[in-house]
Amino acid sequence: MEQKLLSLQDEAGKNLDQLVDAGQLEDFRIRYLGRKGLFSTIMRELGAVDQEERPRVGQLANTIKEEIEKLFDEKKALLGSSAQSGAKGASSIDLSLPGRYPERGRLHPVTQIMNEVCSIFEAMGFSVAEGPDVEQDHYNFEALNIPAHHPARDMHDTFYVSDSILLRTHTSPMQARIMESQQPPLRVIAPGKVYRCDSDITHTPMFHQVEGFLVDTKVSFADLKGILTVFTQKMFDKDLPLRFRPSFFPFTEPSAEVDIACVICGGSGCRVCKQTGWLEILGAGMIDPEVFKMVGYDPEIYSGFAFGLGIERIAMLKYGINDIRLYYENDLRFLAQF
Ligand code: PHE
Repeated sequence: MEQKLLSLQDEAGKNLDQLVDAGQLEDFRIRYLGRKGLFSTIMRELGAVDQEERPRVGQLANTIKEEIEKLFDEKKALLGSSAQSGAKGASSIDLSLPGRYPERGRLHPVTQIMNEVCSIFEAMGFSVAEGPDVEQDHYNFEALNIPAHHPARDMHDTFYVSDSILLRTHTSPMQARIMESQQPPLRVIAPGKVYRCDSDITHTPMFHQVEGFLVDTKVSFADLKGILTVFTQKMFDKDLPLRFRPSFFPFTEPSAEVDIACVICGGSGCRVCKQTGWLEILGAGMIDPEVFKMVGYDPEIYSGFAFGLGIERIAMLKYGINDIRLYYENDLRFLAQF
């Protein structure tokens, strides 16, 4: 019997090592420690052991049973804790926490204003056209009545790529490009990037303009005034007075610079409008007959107006931004405000 008990202890120990889950653990318990299990079966033989031997064998049996139970409990604790740690792993996902979603991008303020300008003009029947940033001298200057060595070229601080290729200094070349390929009536706006060799708190070497022009028979300066009045009202959500100041552009005649009443002080004078009560927002005029001639339109039949506005400037006025360079530093704290 002693021998059976010792080999049972040995076998049980080895068996226990193999167990991997709670089901196997329960099978083990029934097989070795249950009422009809192997241990109880051996114990039934105790009565057959010699009287003198019995206490010693009984003692051994108890020790072995305790030993198996102890190993069993240890194994149970081990499997239990790993099962539990699995459960803990699952519950470590705290479903009540707010989600972490990817940072969402947004349109740059310049793009937003550009889209807004375009949709205001589209609502008035204008179509949108885009042209190249790298432009021919011909479209940027010649076709706009600015021949080589014309003093007006000085106004543009041009980046030249070669003698005849440059970065466009304004969106006006689109006037010539569209007119040379299409016949009136025309209502077009052309948004895009322009480049000038200039940099300070109100100038960046690259900025955005929207060009607009309308060509038809019997177009007058009053039409220009009307269109621009509607535009500024829609853009600034206010009935702002407009002021046309005589100016000069080689491709328009007469030409004007257009001011709106200061959006900050309403015209009484402040730091933003330099106490004048007015803010310049665009250049405009009636398309010069010379420009029409160069694209093959008869200036006796057709007339038209054109204007060009600076997007950064409009965005600065609309949002109260005081340094144009903020647009291009890409500081998210700045950009996220729009
Ligand atoms: N192209 C001119 C500029 O950039 C603006 C302009 C456009 C003026 C159309 C008159 C007509 O300064």
